[in-house]
Amino acid sequence: SSYRVGYFVGSLSSTSINRTLSRALINLAPSGLEFTEIPIGDLPLYSPDYDGSYPPEAVALKEAIAASEAVLFVTPEYNRSIPGALKNAIDWASRPWGQNSFDHMPAAVCGASIGQIGTAVAQQSLRGVLSFCNARQMTAPECYVQFTPEVFPGSGEVTDEATRDFLTAFMQEFRIHTERVLTVLPRS
Ligand code: FNR
Repeated sequence: SSYRVGYFVGSLSSTSINRTLSRALINLAPSGLEFTEIPIGDLPLYSPDYDGSYPPEAVALKEAIAASEAVLFVTPEYNRSIPGALKNAIDWASRPWGQNSFDHMPAAVCGASIGQIGTAVAQQSLRGVLSFCNARQMTAPECYVQFTPEVFPGSGEVTDEATRDFLTAFMQEFRIHTERVLTVLPRS
């Protein structure tokens, strides 16, 4: 069977290395995963004042997550946490109270930075947020990518064999994880 994966790129940069990484992950993914980006850039800042009537961008966000069977986060690290734009999108999706879009959803996290720490601290922060949102996270393998344009020239290529093998295995595990979660917790 095939699974619909909605993916979030945590960066709004037009030259985002995390969007480049997302292309590589999609390119290396096993068959049986279909990817759709869930955009976060046009969302207003969340306020509970919207809970009675979400704006169209936020309705679209919640519909896109509902149309997904699993979610993948590919995010930069900003000041040892996740970018505000991504946190804002998660806050929108988690509300109104009782309509948390991530409840029981299979999820995986990944990210790239220029520095050697490879978004490790941001991912810990994101995992805390997703825990509270009751997403079913893949906890291993972890995926910390130190980005170089030589290894990721764009359009999905990965020139370094060890990195390519690792990212391929990561996506295979994500498919297995998604299948396991959905077997126990089928989405209605
Ligand atoms: C950064 N960067 C960064 N890198 C890192 O490894 N740890 C960090 O805490 C931060 N903090 C941070 C804050 C802000 C506001 C910016 C703009 C950048 C550097 C970051 O890894 C680099 O800009 C990446 O290119 C961001 O990913 P995208 O946007 O290219 O996908």
